[in-house]
Amino acid sequence: MCGIVGYTGPREAGPVLLDGLRRLEYRGYDSAGIALVTESGELFVEKRAGKVAVLTEALGDKPPRAGIGLGHTRWATHGRPSDLNAHPHTDCTGRITVVHNGIVENFRELRDELVAGGHTLKSETDTEVVAHLVEDAYKGDLADAVRAALGRLEGAYALVVMHRDEPERLVGARLNAPLIVGVGEGESFLASDAAAIVAYTKRVVFLDDGDVADLTPGMFTITDRAGTVVDRPIDIIPWSAEAAEKGGYAHFMLKEIHEQPDALTAAMTGRLRGESVCLEELDPIRERLAGIDRVEMIACGTAYYASLVGAALFQEWLGIPARSTVASEFRYSPPPIDSRTLVVAVSQSGETADTIAAARLAGDRGAVVVAVTNTVGSAITRESHASVFLQAGPEVAVAATKTFVTQVATLVMLAADVAHQFKRLSAEKERELVAALRRLPKQAERTIELAGPIEEIAARYADAAGFMYIGRSFGYPAALEGALKIKEISYLHAEGYAAGELKHGPISLLDADVPLVAVATRSAVYDKLISNLMEGKARDARVLAVATEGDTQIERLATDVCWVPDTLEPLSTILAVIPLQLFAYYVAVKRGRDVDQPRNLAKSVTVE
Ligand code: M6R
Repeated sequence: MCGIVGYTGPREAGPVLLDGLRRLEYRGYDSAGIALVTESGELFVEKRAGKVAVLTEALGDKPPRAGIGLGHTRWATHGRPSDLNAHPHTDCTGRITVVHNGIVENFRELRDELVAGGHTLKSETDTEVVAHLVEDAYKGDLADAVRAALGRLEGAYALVVMHRDEPERLVGARLNAPLIVGVGEGESFLASDAAAIVAYTKRVVFLDDGDVADLTPGMFTITDRAGTVVDRPIDIIPWSAEAAEKGGYAHFMLKEIHEQPDALTAAMTGRLRGESVCLEELDPIRERLAGIDRVEMIACGTAYYASLVGAALFQEWLGIPARSTVASEFRYSPPPIDSRTLVVAVSQSGETADTIAAARLAGDRGAVVVAVTNTVGSAITRESHASVFLQAGPEVAVAATKTFVTQVATLVMLAADVAHQFKRLSAEKERELVAALRRLPKQAERTIELAGPIEEIAARYADAAGFMYIGRSFGYPAALEGALKIKEISYLHAEGYAAGELKHGPISLLDADVPLVAVATRSAVYDKLISNLMEGKARDARVLAVATEGDTQIERLATDVCWVPDTLEPLSTILAVIPLQLFAYYVAVKRGRDVDQPRNLAKSVTVE
């Protein structure tokens, strides 16, 4: 949450920062600001409530000429979104500026202490205390002052600090919030993630917790908080700046839905060998995997729904208990965990605070932890003994789409790989699975083609009072995910329910204004699902069904049908969700919503 960018070098810093903020806006978008040390040595700050576009307009597209600066786009935690609470924040002297992502948990004590010491704090934010702590500690060396100030902070932070009197230097620091260094030719960057800077450099250093990065143009030093130099490798970002552009689509979400066939291909690249699944990333932990006797999956939101598929397959294929728990609840009632427990932490961003905390707890108790994430170098990978990457490319829309389908595909492969190691997956079953996985990208393409009429269908449902989504077995996670998509981007209430539970309460919500969306693809539970669909129909609810091509029965029963190709049941979640993503997209467009940046949300949730 919150996006940070910093630049020092020969370019005009203002446009570099604004460009970076636009690319980071999915991290939070309730206010934005930049600070520059101008060519004449002045500290210039402009910050506005609202999106980066509001800030850009306020600047008149002409920020003062400067070779150094920092910027921020905010998702508010402490202090409502306003011009005053927007970052950057400054100290009493007006020389020091700070941008921050995270929460300073002891900010009230620090604030009282600073005020008692004669400081004037202007905003309601936790961040502002950092500027004043650096002010107190400053003796002519910014990095020393930042390190001293960090010693006073409790909580989480990614920070960038700039001092007017050191006009080529930026100091960044991280603890439980992401920050990377961009290493350019004669120029240096700091950013929350690579999207902000990949247009300028692909060479990055992923900072570790406790790192302090000291940057001048083209040079950087990383130390720990005590000032001891630490070595960090330079990594290369594997995707281009264009990958994070809309590429002719009206919204990132629509582009990312259409990217799903390619994302699935990428997720499987190098992982299907002949007739077997093989995740090389697991090789270093094979011995430990051989001893597991239970599987716990932890995740939030969309990733949690994907993990339900993984848990079901681990249990079915390995024959050991496996379940999935929402990460924010996992810690309050942790299951028995020991060295024989495999914990799979699923997180697109790899930054979700709840998932990271749950993974840490599991690791502390001796579990073998595997991360499934889209983000190389992310915090979750540091909590894990092995990381399996989605390889889906950057996902910019706040509503997850291609990362859901690649999470499901990757978890299917993960469960199959471990089941293979356990010799619990017959060669025939594995062959059948691999063949179905190989067909999947083409089938995803076909699903998008089959969804041609969805815009029109969505228009007919866009005035609904709410929606009920139902599914059974592997259709259930698709129903949950479909309902979440509608909620997130159209702001309509939607419930995702296990179809069999409909009659235990929520059926009372159904009427002519509350349609039923039924995931009714071919499966062992098809007939039961049809009974549930009929129960809805009998209550006057319109029924939108997702069904398998060639199903002649469903056409007679449902009001509208979205078709998907036939596949193995565990993979049906992937195809079934695609029309539901498109349905949510077009309902939201019809209702005039901000599809890519829906209200109150942020792409990565780095607070608990
Ligand atoms: O980055 P993560 O996968 O850990 O994020 C978890 C959720 O915050 C995320 O899936 C959220 O539910 C999405 N916005 C859903 O579209």
